[in-house]
Amino acid sequence: MPNRETVWTLSPSRRRAIRAFAGLIAGSPLLKGQQDPFREHTRIPKLDELLTALEFEPVFHAKLPRQVYNYTAYGTDGEFTLRRNRQAFDWVDLLPGPTPAKPQTALNLFGTPLAYPILVSPTAAQVAIHPEGEVAMRQGATAASNTPMIVSNVASLPIEKIGAAAKGPFWFQLYPKEDPDINRETLERAQAAGCRAVVVTIDQQASAYERELHDRHLGPPTNRRTAREAAPRTPYRIREFRLFYDWKLFAEIRKLTKVPIIAKGILTAEDAKLCLENGLDGVYVSNHGGRSLDYGPSTLEVLPEIVDAVAGRCPVLFDSGVRRGTDILKALALGASAVCLGRIPRWGLGAYGAPGVQRILEIMQAELVQAMANTGQPSLAAINRSLVRTDFP
Ligand code: FNR
Ligand code: LAC
Repeated sequence: MPNRETVWTLSPSRRRAIRAFAGLIAGSPLLKGQQDPFREHTRIPKLDELLTALEFEPVFHAKLPRQVYNYTAYGTDGEFTLRRNRQAFDWVDLLPGPTPAKPQTALNLFGTPLAYPILVSPTAAQVAIHPEGEVAMRQGATAASNTPMIVSNVASLPIEKIGAAAKGPFWFQLYPKEDPDINRETLERAQAAGCRAVVVTIDQQASAYERELHDRHLGPPTNRRTAREAAPRTPYRIREFRLFYDWKLFAEIRKLTKVPIIAKGILTAEDAKLCLENGLDGVYVSNHGGRSLDYGPSTLEVLPEIVDAVAGRCPVLFDSGVRRGTDILKALALGASAVCLGRIPRWGLGAYGAPGVQRILEIMQAELVQAMANTGQPSLAAINRSLVRTDFP
C-alpha cells in the first residue's frame, strides 16, 4: 500500500489543482502586464524606427508620468474642439496633380527666412517633459533646417538661456499682464535675447481642464500644481488673470516692441480685421489646440473667412490639430502663410530630446514635400484653394 503522499502525487485531483492554478496565473492581469520580449510592438521603438509624427505619441506616453502626459494631451471641458480640430482635416479633400520637379518650400516671414512654412508653436513648461526643456527644443528645431521656435512666456528656463542655446531664429510669445512694468521687463529681456517677433496670445482667458481637475496625482510629486492648488478661486472654474485683455493693450505693447507683433488666438474675420486696425503685423489663427473654448470652431473651418478678411494685408499663421504633411498642405491651400506645431514637437522632445524634435520636424517637412509633389505643386506660391475641395458640415 503506497503511503498517503504517493497517492496524492499521482491523483487526478492534484492534477486538477495544478491545472486550475496555472490557469489562474495565465489569466492574471499581473502576468498580462509584463512585456513580451518576443513581440516587437510591445517594446519602445528606437528613434530611427519612428516614421510618422503620430508614432511618437505612444513613446511620449510610455516615457512620462501620467499627469505630465495628460498636461500635453488634454483639451478644455469635454474636448469636442480638440477632436474637431482633427476631424476638420478629414473634411478637406486634396486634388491630385502632375508631379513637379522638387517642390520649393522656402519663404520669408517677418524677416525670418524659413526653409519650410513650419514653426514650433509656443508651449509651456518643457522641462517637465525633458530635463533640457526649451534648450533641447530650440537645438532640435535649429537642427531641422533652422525651424523657428516660438518660446512660451511660461517657459521653464530663462529666456537668456534659451536664446543662447542655438543659432536658429526664435520668436517670443507673451501673456500680457495687467502690470505694464512686468510686460516691459519681459519684452525687454526677450528682445535682448534675440527674438525676431512677438506673438501675443489673446485666447485661453477662462478655460479649465477637467482632466487636470480630476487628476488625483497618484504618481510621484512633480512641479505641477496639485489638484487642490489648481482649484480656481472664482466660481465656475474661471481663472480671472487674463480677463482684463482689451484691444488697446496692443498700443501699450507696441511701445515696448521693436520687432513685428502677431496676435495668437484669432478665430473670426471680425477679430482679424481688428488686428489690422490695431496696427498688428500678423494674425495667428489658433484655438490653442482645443484648450481654450470648447465648442468653438476648428481652426481649419474658420481659416478661409479670416484669409478673405485679411486680403493679403499681413501674413496669416495657423495651428491646432496639425499632425501630417497633408494637413499642412490643406492649411496652406486655404490661405495660411505658415503652420505652427504645438503637441508634435513636445512628443519629439519627451520621447527623444533634441534629436527627437529634429526628427519629428524633419518628418513633417518631408511629408509636406511629398504632399506637394503628389498634388503637382511646384512652389508655395502656386498653392491655392483650387487644390482642395472642402466639405465642412
Ligand atoms: C499650449 N499652447 C500654448 N500657447 C501659448 O500661446 N502659450 C503657451 O504657453 C502654451 N502652452 C501650451 C502647452 C501645451 C501643453 C499645449 C498642448 C499647448 C497652445 C499652442 O501654442 C498651440 O496653439 C497648440 O498646441 C496647437 O495645437 P496642436 O498643434 O497641439 O494640435
Ligand atoms: C496651456 C497654457 C500654458 O495651454 O497656454 O497650458
